[in-house]
Amino acid sequence: MGILLKNISTLLTLQGAAQKQGCRIREEDLGILKQASILFEKERIVWVGTDKKLPKEFAKKKHQEINMKGKTVLPGFVECHTHLIFAGDRAAEFEMRNQGVSYQEIAARGGGILSTMKKTRGASLANLAQAGQERANHFISQGVTTLEIKSGYALNLKDELKMLQAAQKVQGLRTVSTFLGAHALPPEFKSYEDYLAFLAQEILPVVKKKKLARRVDVFIEKGFFPPEASEKYLRRAQELGFEVLVHADQLSLSGGSDVAVRIGALSGDHLLQVTDKEIQNLAKSETTCVLLPAADLYMKTKYPPAREMIDAGARVALATDFNPGSSPTQDLNLVGLLARLEMKMSLPEVIGAYTVGAAHALNLQQDVGSLEVGKSADILCMEKDWQTLFYSVGERVDKVVFSRGKKIFGSLK
Ligand code: NIG
Ligand code: FE
Repeated sequence: MGILLKNISTLLTLQGAAQKQGCRIREEDLGILKQASILFEKERIVWVGTDKKLPKEFAKKKHQEINMKGKTVLPGFVECHTHLIFAGDRAAEFEMRNQGVSYQEIAARGGGILSTMKKTRGASLANLAQAGQERANHFISQGVTTLEIKSGYALNLKDELKMLQAAQKVQGLRTVSTFLGAHALPPEFKSYEDYLAFLAQEILPVVKKKKLARRVDVFIEKGFFPPEASEKYLRRAQELGFEVLVHADQLSLSGGSDVAVRIGALSGDHLLQVTDKEIQNLAKSETTCVLLPAADLYMKTKYPPAREMIDAGARVALATDFNPGSSPTQDLNLVGLLARLEMKMSLPEVIGAYTVGAAHALNLQQDVGSLEVGKSADILCMEKDWQTLFYSVGERVDKVVFSRGKKIFGSLK
């Protein structure tokens, strides 16, 4: 027996956006259906369309039918860049930054990522997993059904594995783990090259063997990991069978997006310092531009040139970059609002970026991001019209969320 959501006031399939692989999305690509139904059995969508076209065999009461009058239904959101697992906070450092000390200066004094590292090394697996689950639940309540989770606050073998194990314990929604050992230079090492060689030799093979992550990420930045050694490291990760991505061109134009394009990375993330040349190269590539405007707000930097990227034909995704330092927020609404207010993105582009675009960034476009037959039943139902999305920060809207065909949040009256 499946579940049939019937009499849906407005259903957004995002089918057109998926066909266009998340590029140049317009309102007509949202696949807006009025008076529609969606049927799913086990994890998969079996039928979707207008009520009138619902085949008779489905209308006969063999499914659990739910009347969705007044509701909007769309694909669950894909949150494709988070540092979900960490201990402690960096509120005092935030105050320092507001008083004029830069992020890099704080990092050079042993604060920043290294201060979270100390707390995270000292935390137990159980505590990290519990904090991770609570944070994941907060994402779920906003309609997130797929969540990327990075390691990178332990920077040694034992505790990086502990972070990835904590990430694997997160339940409810679909998760994708990423190994970000190359996040900062730990005190045990003097050079970035030596540390990357250690990660490649001692940690990547263990992560692979234990199946703790399928992706590898690097923070390429002046004062952090240099592009040449990072490229070598990422190529080694690819040889070991990992997908790769890059934190690129956030604080300076430091070559990260060039590396991403050259090695066929799934995504380049941040990308606010890129020029026309990098934009053209990204647009010609399969690499998704993952834009993180909440981090740009907290870092008081400029915003990425989303308009130019989209118009050049690049695929754009949006995410929170949730972490205790540069983006201590889990608020998708804020991210989408900033994209609209500061990055000249239209609402259909924002919705596409948080579904199809982000699905591509995770290489999950066959399964998630749009509501089509055969795809996963990852579904967000809400009381309000789709045009109210990414509009009113702080507003609470009643939501019901299905992940892989199971209700994971909210109640249907
Ligand atoms: O994506 N840029 C590097 N990593 C994070 C910041 C992590 C931190 O400050 O703890 C980011 O912004
Ligand atoms: Fe990040």
